[in-house]
Amino acid sequence: MKIIKTIEEMKERSGRLKRERKSIGLAPTMGALHEGHLSLVRKSVQSMDKTVASLFVNPAQFAPNEDFDSYPRDYDRDLDMFMREGVDIVFMPERNTVYPAEYKTYVEVHDLQEKLCGLTRPIFFRGVCTVVLKLFNIINPDTAFFGQKDAQQGIIIKRMVKDLNLDVRIKILPIVRDKDGLALSSRNAYLKNTQRQAALSLSRSLREAKIMVEKGEIRTEIITAQIKDIIEYCPEAKIDYVKIVDAENLDPLDIVRAGTLIALAVYVGKTRLIDNIIL
Ligand code: PAF
Repeated sequence: MKIIKTIEEMKERSGRLKRERKSIGLAPTMGALHEGHLSLVRKSVQSMDKTVASLFVNPAQFAPNEDFDSYPRDYDRDLDMFMREGVDIVFMPERNTVYPAEYKTYVEVHDLQEKLCGLTRPIFFRGVCTVVLKLFNIINPDTAFFGQKDAQQGIIIKRMVKDLNLDVRIKILPIVRDKDGLALSSRNAYLKNTQRQAALSLSRSLREAKIMVEKGEIRTEIITAQIKDIIEYCPEAKIDYVKIVDAENLDPLDIVRAGTLIALAVYVGKTRLIDNIIL
């Protein structure tokens, strides 16, 4: 496994792979790896000639009051995990080469970026889109793999790729959950024991919503109320949002239909957790 730290070397390497007609898969990550990340890497290793994993905690997607400084970092462990999965190249650029002092350009996907998570994290998606577009330009992947847990991120990146005519296929892979149902997230590491019980209310409420729909309830108002009841029953959980929306334009729906997205964000203590299902 090759570790590349400079943009020039990464471009040179991906250019060479393209000339050799090798397909390139990209698994973008901020490290603190878990099985969710590894599912992206595995899919790429299985289906592409070469797999590049990026490892970069992207400052542009954190607001000043968020956890950029304390975001879990253990690069040795991450590199070891990438190696075991058969990653060919890890791209680990330095912050000041991705965003030099004179940096001025950001990508925004209007309308979609302001909804759901965008309400409490107003700069998040412009930071994500900017770094993802940079990674696409530097690595030139044929396919990039993202997780369904960040449903809005996947929807926005697909829109960016379409709108900017980028030649990269976006694959969204299913949420990976712990045995107890908690969606895997690097931020789960922040949860204390009692908080984990509260965190389970997210997946429990989504399971309950699915059962309601299977039994014939399609009114989103009723389903939303039930989800909120389940979460609010846990004193440590504080709802940021519960939304039932169209999975392409993120507009709220009155009635559930096939492909509808139920997305939630909940604070457990100071940790903000997200989860979702597509019906
Ligand atoms: O999903 C993430 O881990 C990040 O948002 C991403 C896509 C690696 C961009 O920094």
